[in-house]
Amino acid sequence: MSGDCKKGGLESGFQPPFEHFSTQALHAGQDAEQWTSMAVVPPISLSTTFKQDAPGKHAGFEYSRSGNPTRNCLEKAVAAVDGAKYCLAFASGLATTMTIAHLLKSGDNIICMNDVYGGTNRYFRRVASEMGLEVSFIDCTSLEYLDAAIKPNTKLVWIETPTNPMMNVVDIKGCAETVHKHGDIILVVDNTFMSAYFQRPLALGADICMYSATKYMNGHSDVVMGLASMNRDDLHEKLRFLQNAIGAVPSPFDCYMCNRGLKTLALRMKQHFKNALVVAQFLEADPRVEKVIFPGLPSHPQYNLVKQQCTGSSGMITFVIKGDLENATTFLKNLKLFVLAESLGGYESLAEHPAIMTHASVPKEDRDILGISDTLIRLSIGLEDVADIIEDIHQALKAAHPNVVIPTEQINRFLCN
Ligand SMILES: Cc1ncc(COP(=O)(O)O)c(C=O)c1O
Repeated sequence: MSGDCKKGGLESGFQPPFEHFSTQALHAGQDAEQWTSMAVVPPISLSTTFKQDAPGKHAGFEYSRSGNPTRNCLEKAVAAVDGAKYCLAFASGLATTMTIAHLLKSGDNIICMNDVYGGTNRYFRRVASEMGLEVSFIDCTSLEYLDAAIKPNTKLVWIETPTNPMMNVVDIKGCAETVHKHGDIILVVDNTFMSAYFQRPLALGADICMYSATKYMNGHSDVVMGLASMNRDDLHEKLRFLQNAIGAVPSPFDCYMCNRGLKTLALRMKQHFKNALVVAQFLEADPRVEKVIFPGLPSHPQYNLVKQQCTGSSGMITFVIKGDLENATTFLKNLKLFVLAESLGGYESLAEHPAIMTHASVPKEDRDILGISDTLIRLSIGLEDVADIIEDIHQALKAAHPNVVIPTEQINRFLCN
């Protein structure tokens, strides 16, 4: 095995992690005193209703849709790790998006980053638009385009960074300054890809930081959930009203699971980044690969911006395989350790084909403009031993490109961690 082992990791010029992150994730909102049993681990509070001493006189909970003790614990912990005053939990990432959209009224304009998760695109294009909201899809990586697109009826700007699946990075601080100089426009950042561990949008000027907690925040691919954190009292009051009035809330069991997943967020994210950096370096050196897009690599066109606004990068890598759809399909079908499946951010490595799977709902002409081609593959690098991950990718690339011979030394450089 060569001594030239690519280590990857957090030493690669990123800012230090947010102070007290792990302590907050472990302890904020978790105090045993809130339970009569003094339980150290928050119990799953399944009761849908809570006893009142006299009509309207209760101990903080009335009915589980409007407030639940287990949900409360999770919301407090997430608020703490986001550096926020408040957090609200929802039944899914899209339920969060829908509830936030209800802050607006018919005729209002939403500006949405043109490269977002396919389901967000579909919701704005096919649901919100049908209910009287006007939606413009804009490339918000250009602050000039964003500025020019803001109209008197613009009430909300929705960005996702890095974007899914093209890994474009949006300047959160720049967007906040641009948006807020036009008055009271709400800037929402979908922080799903980075998680609270690597990026804090509220500190950069965003009004709401939202997540599909189905991904890294829970991290075990066993919960569908959404989260929204904020500092503004007025937004919290309105969203809390909508959380109850619309009712798209998560179950106490899911809140328990996500609260538990959050306890290892820091550890998981560090390892996702470490593994992904080695995989991205491996892919970048591979002649069977056309292009690698990973925000943690110096070759990413917005690497400097990534280092300014993030403390690392997650396990998400997008790459273009040489050839055509057949090569891409052969690669995906031959993976053994990776599971061919939608979703991301769990402990296990997943691979998918955005054009056919997660982003099939984005119109073909938009996919072509964004670069979501037949040869584009998205990887969610998990927490397995990185040598096994590399070996799996190598053998699947070999199946896709049997005539390309890769020297053993080149593979070996990446097989130690
Ligand atoms: C970046 C991003 N935002 C939002 C969502 C929607 O979240 P959910 O599937 O929890 O509704 C997803 C789902 O994949 C996503 O990847």
